[in-house]
Amino acid sequence: MWKLTQGAAVALGLVAALSASAGEVEVLHYWTSGGEAKSAAELKKIMQGKGHTWRDFAVAGGGGDSAMTVLKSRVISGNPPSAAQVKGPAIQEWAEEGVLSPMDALAKAEKWDDLLPKVVADVMKYKGSYVAVPVNVHRVNWLWASSDALKKAGVAAMPKTWDEFFVAADKLKAAGLVAVAHGGQNWQDFTTFESVVLGVGGPRFYQDALVKLDGKALASDTMKKSLETFRRIKGYTDPGAPGRDWNLATAMLIQGKAGFQLMGDWAKGEFMAAGKAPGKDFLCAAAPGAASAFTFNVDSFILFKLKDAGAQKAQSDLASAIMGPGFQEVFNLNKGSIPVRTGQPMDKFDDCAKLSSKDFAETAKSGGLVPSVAHGMAIAPATEGAIKDAVSQFWNDDKISVADAMKKIATAAKTK
Ligand code: GAL
Repeated sequence: MWKLTQGAAVALGLVAALSASAGEVEVLHYWTSGGEAKSAAELKKIMQGKGHTWRDFAVAGGGGDSAMTVLKSRVISGNPPSAAQVKGPAIQEWAEEGVLSPMDALAKAEKWDDLLPKVVADVMKYKGSYVAVPVNVHRVNWLWASSDALKKAGVAAMPKTWDEFFVAADKLKAAGLVAVAHGGQNWQDFTTFESVVLGVGGPRFYQDALVKLDGKALASDTMKKSLETFRRIKGYTDPGAPGRDWNLATAMLIQGKAGFQLMGDWAKGEFMAAGKAPGKDFLCAAAPGAASAFTFNVDSFILFKLKDAGAQKAQSDLASAIMGPGFQEVFNLNKGSIPVRTGQPMDKFDDCAKLSSKDFAETAKSGGLVPSVAHGMAIAPATEGAIKDAVSQFWNDDKISVADAMKKIATAAKTK
């Protein structure tokens, strides 16, 4: 009779216990650039440390449009991943489908309501219950600059207004540099456009025009001035801009070939991954005219209903890990964003992140905190897509007049 030694029995018991609680977690996301991938790897490390198997379902394509298309096909075919990077109003749409795994028990046990700013917690809930877990707070209304390029062009300081911006852009052009590194994809065009609207019209106008889609605001002189400013930026980009990925535009600053990039602070993740130091190799400043405003973009994950107990445990561990203080620090240090969990120490973060953290708190009180339309935080996905297309058509076709663009945007705003 084959007798198990006591030790072997205990060891087997341990393995059995672990394997019951361990499971596989397949995560759909679109963090495939240098900085993004480094950040995502931190979550993989934590999950593997808990004994789970991590299946990385990365879908390339900044801004996530491709990832959302693939996600829909996976769910329709009855084969959803464990978790998917979904944010803003799209969370509500997925919850309405009845396919999400509820997170309320975990959220209550870990007191998420005490740990999250209300503006964030509200986005994560469907009919009052948590159905998504937030990862970070990205600020979108940033202007990035290459220190070398600015020095070469004789630009002494970061521009605070759009007039100062164009003076600096002229100097960069005169120095033979690309003044504005841009990637011609509709989410990048709109990232630039929404920062212009914020700087030209202010947060109240931004809310009226781009969030409430108010007809009067969309037909106003302020919108006209915003579109004129937006089009003027186009003249400072290079012929290689159409279709360029955002991180390759950031690389133009890292290589000192371009002066400015208007982009969210995931761009900082690229500078960091390239070993560049803020304040030395690159500069960050609020986009012109928008220093007292903050366009927020909160990455989050939804969990899909799964049958397997091990997979469910892995899902719960994933959500708990994401909200954990350890992940909140190491992920956001790499990603360029700031922790979404309140009370996190900021001493390891750089001055750009500290400015972001200060401004996030101040604008939440002042009314300067606004949701990013470009990054799916503000309006229904179908409406957002239609407006983005109208703005990109205007950016790409100089024959479209400002007046025509205003009409196209107003029509797109009615898309349901
Ligand atoms: C945003 C996303 C960020 C960032 C960026 C570029 O929509 O929230 O995490 O990675 O796209 O892909």
